[in-house]
Amino acid sequence: MKAITVEPKKPGTARFEDFPEPDVREGSVLVEAVAAGVCGTDVEIVTGKYGWAPPGKTRLVLGHESLGRVIDPGESSAFKKGDLVVGIVRRPDPVPCPNCAVGEWDMCRNGQYTERGIKEIHGFMSERWRSEPEYLIKVDPSLGILGVLLEPMTVITKALEQIVVIGQRAYWEPKTVLVTGAGPIGLLAALRLRARGFQVHVLDRVETGSKPELVGALGATYHTGSVLDLGFEPDVIVECTGVGSVIADSIQKVGAGGIICLTGIGAGGVAGRATADMAAGAVLKNNVIVGSVNSNKRHWYRAGENLARSDREWLGRLITRCEKPENFQQALERRPDDVKVIIQFSKI
Ligand code: BGC
Repeated sequence: MKAITVEPKKPGTARFEDFPEPDVREGSVLVEAVAAGVCGTDVEIVTGKYGWAPPGKTRLVLGHESLGRVIDPGESSAFKKGDLVVGIVRRPDPVPCPNCAVGEWDMCRNGQYTERGIKEIHGFMSERWRSEPEYLIKVDPSLGILGVLLEPMTVITKALEQIVVIGQRAYWEPKTVLVTGAGPIGLLAALRLRARGFQVHVLDRVETGSKPELVGALGATYHTGSVLDLGFEPDVIVECTGVGSVIADSIQKVGAGGIICLTGIGAGGVAGRATADMAAGAVLKNNVIVGSVNSNKRHWYRAGENLARSDREWLGRLITRCEKPENFQQALERRPDDVKVIIQFSKI
């Protein structure tokens, strides 16, 4: 079969190449790939900044946002041939730490977790892949290709859960939420926050095109420019850019008792802004800055329910480009109007 593979930490090594069929030790359920989403993490891996090959191997099959069709359910009675499924990304660490021991691998304490297509286990950008049945999620068949949005939806499901849990530390009546960054994560956050009745504001650097339209269609308000220039203090900020200056501005701008949830992974920036000043502002306003990564089975289940209930036409507009696996290099390019780019392996 063919797969998109890369030698992690070595830029320019990604290839669409012949690769051995998935090993049965990777799981008893055999799946035919339908599509895989491309995200910033894939770009980081391909440019040599992130990622780990399986132990003893040099190359890693890329891809952690999946959608596939069961070819052979193996021994599992939970799946049948033809089911549309998505693979869970993270596996608990082998120790396991207390969080992994209770199935909260997203909160792993010792960093020894593994992740498909990212850290030490092959991903989903291959014509066929395998999974253990307990790490497969069935998607509503009526979602069709939109099922490929499940993984990013799980990331936001966890982040919003964290915000609500933290909000309970005191009397809390949040009304306005700012989402920074109108990429797939930011837009899915806006979708879910609108569904929960919040006044939602989305800020991005892009001034025209599908991003403002998608935000407007949700009944949310679109902004460009600096967070500091907004005419209100958000109760909650969901930070989806990973850009240092946007993060620093968000910490300054959030209202008293506010929560800033960081979901973007960036590097560098704002060396000049004193950490102690930022911290003092957070202390004086009782603010919480929380990081959120990955998702556990509870989030995968809930994200599946929420995705199935969402407006299909709006979700469909998030997928702005669909490339063939042999053109994966184009799929990894960032074009101005891209929201979610997917690689399609087979017909839905
Ligand atoms: C993935 C997460 C993963 C994180 C860190 C993100 O792109 O969506 O599942 O935990 O990268 O590797």
